[in-house]
Amino acid sequence: MKKSEIVRKSYTKIAKKYANQRNLYPNKELLMKFKRYMQKGSKVLDLGCGAGVPISKFLVSNGYNVTGIDFADGMLKLAKRNVPRAKFIKMDMTKMNFKPNSFDGAVSFYAIIHVSRKKHSRIYKSLHRILINNAIILVNAGGNKEWEEIAEDYIGVPMFWSFYSPKRTLGIIKNAGFEIIWNKILKLGGETQFWVMARNQK
Ligand SMILES: C[S@@+](CC[C@H](N)C(=O)[O-])C[C@H]1O[C@@H](n2cnc3c(N)ncnc32)[C@H](O)[C@@H]1O
Repeated sequence: MKKSEIVRKSYTKIAKKYANQRNLYPNKELLMKFKRYMQKGSKVLDLGCGAGVPISKFLVSNGYNVTGIDFADGMLKLAKRNVPRAKFIKMDMTKMNFKPNSFDGAVSFYAIIHVSRKKHSRIYKSLHRILINNAIILVNAGGNKEWEEIAEDYIGVPMFWSFYSPKRTLGIIKNAGFEIIWNKILKLGGETQFWVMARNQK
């Protein structure tokens, strides 16, 4: 089975379980950081939105116009129920087909790390195109070192993760047309992740 299919099928299967254990607490400060850069009413894209909680929900509650994309039906079904004021679309983030300049900002929490790292550059290049000039992105783009693994048992299902080192990841984001504003390896809720905030430069 293709690695992306493992991820898609597994997240559909564990959607409820994953959403039930998902907590806003570890990500609150990051979201507040993003909020400082984004005016109310801004159009924000949430890539790999999952069940919509807590990320899309936080964004909607803070006055943003939110579009969430995910390729797992199970997650999207929950997202539509959990955050009725956001718009959710079934879409693979490696094949985004929005028009140029469609969004003022974008976030992606714990999702790009499930895409084969060879395709990460494609995601950031698409973001460069579909975001307006000076748009802000906030993403967790990997861990503290490069990593690729297919695990047999992640919450009872197989799962795939893939990312480069923080240094190489920053190069990919810059090369796609972004200026790095902030980046840090953080241990939040028991997970060590590499977080990046960047500004689109057109
Ligand atoms: C760990 S969950 C995180 C969900 C949500 N962002 C959150 O913070 O709770 C990862 C999500 O990314 C989605 N995902 C992974 N690869 C994707 C892809 N290529 N296109 C769209 N969604 C993807 C999965 O279906 C899953 O819902």
